[in-house]
Amino acid sequence: MQTRITEMLGIEIPIVQAPMGWIARSQLASAVSNAGGLGIIETSSGELDAIKGEVAKMRSMTDRPFGMNLAQLFIRDPLSMVDFVAENEISFVTTSAGDPSVLVPRLKDLGITVFHVVPTIRGAQKAIDAGVDGLVVEGAEGGGFKNADGASCLVLVPEIAERFDVPIIAAGGFVDGRSMAAAFALGADGVQMGTRMVSSVESPIHDNWKQSIVDGSEVDTVIVNRHNRPAMRVWASEKARALDAANEPAQLAPDAMMGTYFGGDMESGFAMSGQVQGRIHSVEPVAEILRRAWSDCQSVLRALGTSVADGSISK
Ligand SMILES: Cc1cc2nc3c(=O)[nH]c(=O)nc-3n(C[C@H](O)[C@H](O)[C@H](O)COP(=O)(O)O)c2cc1C
Repeated sequence: MQTRITEMLGIEIPIVQAPMGWIARSQLASAVSNAGGLGIIETSSGELDAIKGEVAKMRSMTDRPFGMNLAQLFIRDPLSMVDFVAENEISFVTTSAGDPSVLVPRLKDLGITVFHVVPTIRGAQKAIDAGVDGLVVEGAEGGGFKNADGASCLVLVPEIAERFDVPIIAAGGFVDGRSMAAAFALGADGVQMGTRMVSSVESPIHDNWKQSIVDGSEVDTVIVNRHNRPAMRVWASEKARALDAANEPAQLAPDAMMGTYFGGDMESGFAMSGQVQGRIHSVEPVAEILRRAWSDCQSVLRALGTSVADGSISK
């Protein structure tokens, strides 16, 4: 089964792995691309030399397509990264956390397919005006940097799909075949998974974080920095809950963040995680996650089609 996303990106399964600082590197991204989805290399860590090395590693770890995210807020010189993308023949880029008119026209001139990440309908209009090929529509239920007042995918995706005729990758709450099938019903052409990928075998983060996702319920996340920048949905550590309750800013001190990411101290920094953690019950290999989600998605869609043909909707 093909979608506009599989055709445009040259992949088999319309699942894109989320760009996540320090996590979306070659170990995870190559596993996703090799499994038939699209791996993405991050830039939000700001560690551009390390990231260039990760792109080189990708070439030896997969011969499948992969992409790159240019997180404008976190890169000192975004235009130099555009040159890097072109020199390395990366044909798909998502731009985020910044004005789409800055990078999109330049990337388009270089023949690169560009999607901009949008958390609102207004943001989608700006990205369309800048000339994007498609949109990553990011609902507020997802993990990571968020619009604190943002709407969920259930509201955003159909509204944006009805207004703009471009391919949509829905991001926020997608984890399995049933949720993927819902994305297609909403008007998306593919999904992006963040929290599910963090909790995969190939994710490089500490096992304590993966286990916190497995143990966490759908109400065990918090938006910190609700009234400061950057607002983020994170796993509900005691520190995150206390800052939220006191309406105090969350500091992203690099050492403290690394203490969580790679030291496994869940109270040191902040572990970004989405509400969908309540639907994740084990740490699994990427290939198994993608294979089962895509196969189950098609089964759900077929079953719904059959039941509609029979004159009733049933589970
Ligand atoms: C640990 C983590 C880090 C993230 N970092 C980034 C990032 O650097 N850039 C970005 O565009 N989105 C980032 N996100 C958001 C994801 O791209 C994606 O939109 C979101 O995870 C989708 O929702 P889900 O967590 O329900 O799958 C991050 C998400 C997580 C869970």
